[in-house]
Amino acid sequence: MSDKVILKYDGKELELAVSTGSMDEKAIDVSSLRGATGLITMDPGYKNTGACESKITFLDGEEGKLSYRGYPIEQLAEKSSFVEVMYLLIKGHLPTQPELDKFVADINEHNYVSEDLIKILDAFPSSAHPMGVLASLTSALSAFNPKCVNVNSEEDLYRAAVTLLGKFPVLASWCQRKTKGLPVNYSNDQLGYVENFYQLLFKKPGQELAMNPVVVDALDKLFILHADHEQNCSTSTVRLVGSSHAGLFASISSGISALWGPLHGGANQAVIEMLEAIKNDGGDVQKWIDKAKDKNDPFRLMGFGHRVYKNFDPRARIIKVACDNILEQLGIDDPILEIAKGLEKAALEDEYFVERKLYPNVDFYSGIIYKALDIPTEMFTVMFAVGRLPGWIAQWKEMRETNQPIGRPRQLYTGEPDRDYVPVENR
Ligand code: ACO
Repeated sequence: MSDKVILKYDGKELELAVSTGSMDEKAIDVSSLRGATGLITMDPGYKNTGACESKITFLDGEEGKLSYRGYPIEQLAEKSSFVEVMYLLIKGHLPTQPELDKFVADINEHNYVSEDLIKILDAFPSSAHPMGVLASLTSALSAFNPKCVNVNSEEDLYRAAVTLLGKFPVLASWCQRKTKGLPVNYSNDQLGYVENFYQLLFKKPGQELAMNPVVVDALDKLFILHADHEQNCSTSTVRLVGSSHAGLFASISSGISALWGPLHGGANQAVIEMLEAIKNDGGDVQKWIDKAKDKNDPFRLMGFGHRVYKNFDPRARIIKVACDNILEQLGIDDPILEIAKGLEKAALEDEYFVERKLYPNVDFYSGIIYKALDIPTEMFTVMFAVGRLPGWIAQWKEMRETNQPIGRPRQLYTGEPDRDYVPVENR
């Protein structure tokens, strides 16, 4: 196969190199295009545009395949732990036992936040959406940790990563506690990362919180599955903001805002709200399928479809099984689960969804699990953010280490041509 393409334009020919990734993916290098021809490429939504080379995550949407640093997601979900996956994403290899122990100890050293942050938290109304609060508190971290990261120092980058990994679950838990009117809670070094997060969320003052291993295991798995997903909307936001050399906390705060939207991480909240709405509407699944197919109706089936997967989302396969197990083990019989099953079956058999390759995505099931674990609906996307944090950090780190230029897309201007200013009295 040729390693170049020839572009013919205005009587001239331009040779564009084709690069090949380690999984045999191909990309045309158009970086010389504008200089040589004056042309730019148009690709709204970046459906065909690669913005970087990356060694972190591989995703084949046609095959429904996902791997972190070369390890299949199925193996990681079954055999690894969230902490180990965090290390893998950020450092590039699976840790030895001493490396893992040090990583955990280093995270624990930072698993508190300044008490002054409580004043900021207090200023939010208890009705504030936790994602807005989380984005603000994460951004505020930069004020409390002003030391710049020297991106040429592996040690400095590592310190920044463990600092944020330590503090983030505390902030995320405070967002939930705020909505429930509970006082803030503090980390417990004796517990694992996920167990600690669980007690941060739920422990009441003076209470001995019993840890259900089924719940901890489910959360651990969900976080592994959410830990990275290459150049999605929030990760691209983290990279783009970071490309201006904005700091790690500011870049991650922007990623949280990007994740919030219902077309991205906010879909897990939207799925449950949709299932509740179907239930309250009498449970007629077909009516809602028809609504999603109606081009005059803006409604979309939440938790269905994906920009990259044109096959079953491999994470959804794993979560579907985990979801059934958890509901069975916790003895939960939730009527919205029946609606979810009915909706999934009807959509998978419907020509509209089959033709467009619209399958349930990871968010279709994650919300059902979070609901079973008694996590408030508005916290679902915060849970996603806790899982995605190591991916954002790894991608930010890689972007700075590889010295990516500042991100700055072009546009095709379609506004008014040049015209003269008219004073207000003459308009
Ligand atoms: N319900 C009904 N129709 C849909 C849906 C859906 N959920 N998703 C896509 N379609 C249709 C579109 O209307 C379009 O139809 P057309 O070809 O007749 O115009 C076709 O499928 C292609 O859809 P696009 O919008 O072009 O696909 P895109 O890649 O831009 O969007 C997205 C992907 C945003 C995920 C979309 O499928 C969607 O809105 N899904 C619902 C929200 C959701 O679940 N988001 C979570 C994504 S996973 C994540 O972020 C973790």
